[in-house]
Amino acid sequence: MSLTTPAARRDLAYHLHPSTNLRSVQTEGPLVITRGEGVYVYDEEGRRYLDGLAGLWCASLGFSERRLADAAHRQMIELPFYHSFAGKVPAVSTLLAEALIRIAPDGMSRALFANSGSEANDTAIKLAWYVNNALGRPQKKKIISRHRAYHGMTIAAASLTGLAFAQTDFDLPIARFLHTDCPYPYRGALPGESEEAYAARLAGNLEELILREGPDTIAAFFAEPVMGAGGVIVPPATYFDRVQPILAKHEILFVADEVICGFGRTGNMFGSQTFNLRPDIMTVAKALSAGYLPISASLVKGSVYDVLVAQSDKLGIFGHGYTYSSHPVPAAVALETLKIYEERDIVGMVKRVGPHLQKAIRSYADHPLIGDARGIGLIGAVELVRDKATKQSFDPKAGVGAFLIRRAQHHGTILRSMPGDIVAFSPPLIITEAEIDEMMRGFAQALEDTWAMVKERGIA
Ligand SMILES: Cc1ncc(COP(=O)(O)O)c(C=O)c1O
Repeated sequence: MSLTTPAARRDLAYHLHPSTNLRSVQTEGPLVITRGEGVYVYDEEGRRYLDGLAGLWCASLGFSERRLADAAHRQMIELPFYHSFAGKVPAVSTLLAEALIRIAPDGMSRALFANSGSEANDTAIKLAWYVNNALGRPQKKKIISRHRAYHGMTIAAASLTGLAFAQTDFDLPIARFLHTDCPYPYRGALPGESEEAYAARLAGNLEELILREGPDTIAAFFAEPVMGAGGVIVPPATYFDRVQPILAKHEILFVADEVICGFGRTGNMFGSQTFNLRPDIMTVAKALSAGYLPISASLVKGSVYDVLVAQSDKLGIFGHGYTYSSHPVPAAVALETLKIYEERDIVGMVKRVGPHLQKAIRSYADHPLIGDARGIGLIGAVELVRDKATKQSFDPKAGVGAFLIRRAQHHGTILRSMPGDIVAFSPPLIITEAEIDEMMRGFAQALEDTWAMVKERGIA
């Protein structure tokens, strides 16, 4: 981090950072990244960092996949822009739609493209409303998501999100958005309660909420298979098995947000396969293009698609879409990304390397600062606590997680701290076991620095 290099000075003078403490960045300076290679990125002074979060959970193929650059370049020359309104379509976008539906879980029948995970989720909300109007159920419009969910930052997606920082002072959530329990075994299960019993209790609470509000007022339920930015929360056994029949019983659409879990992260192509989900709508983004260009999609089941066709025929148009829906250049990059996943058997790679990461993360479970160590596939987290026995967290103002992240960066590893001093790991899917060891060494050094700091300040 620097305050004095030309790029840092320009940044501080002209750039408004998203998802950042705008005061701290002024005093500490930005970390200016200039290039990438494999799982590493480099700052402007040539320092190398292993990016343990694949950027923002997205750079699945690392930071130097030449084939994606070539695919973008070829597409830029051939057809740099076309749209898909009014029956037109760039040829490459048809190939991507086909490739996506071929690998999607059974039942998915069409892909509608957008530019970001937030837009894909906004689209899914609009589809749920449109479908219920088409079916003559104008009251069935409320949307349920979970506390600690992260579904994005646009007005509707941030209303789905169940984290205070996304809503406070933004006048969110807007009306008709409800939140139910976060399936969080470490903090939510009662003493002695089994995972199954905990899952049953949460499913019961969900059904109670539905009945209280009136099933005829609830349109959709949104869930990430593994919750990412809320703290890498892996659901307790049987959670989704118990939730899905309740949704089906009350004719509530199930939207699986696969923006992080999609494309191998959990050890299957989709998190829906890992947890046996049968969604009506699935949203994908991030690793769809390995993060190289903005693109997302909302995939819909055949039964949803049929309603959209009939209603658009009745109204004269399916009145939703963006200038850059189906943009050919990100589509070409995404298509090449999916080819690489298949050729290199990315899912097999995660299945082989994932256990190494999980074992490494869990090896810190006995550390006095670590209350919980969890994860699946190539995603995981540790939760820093003040008191292991009582699970008492640190005062958020103490900034313990943020301190650890700064120290990890000092030791050459980029990680991310989330509310509750939860430190996440979500490296590029191409990471090797040796690189995982290197990432964990950076983490271990930072953990020791943090332990020394909390003892010195007398807060642990
Ligand atoms: C699960 C999930 N859904 C949606 C989003 C929003 O995606 P975007 O930032 O591309 O709008 C994110 C972003 O991190 C996410 O993790």
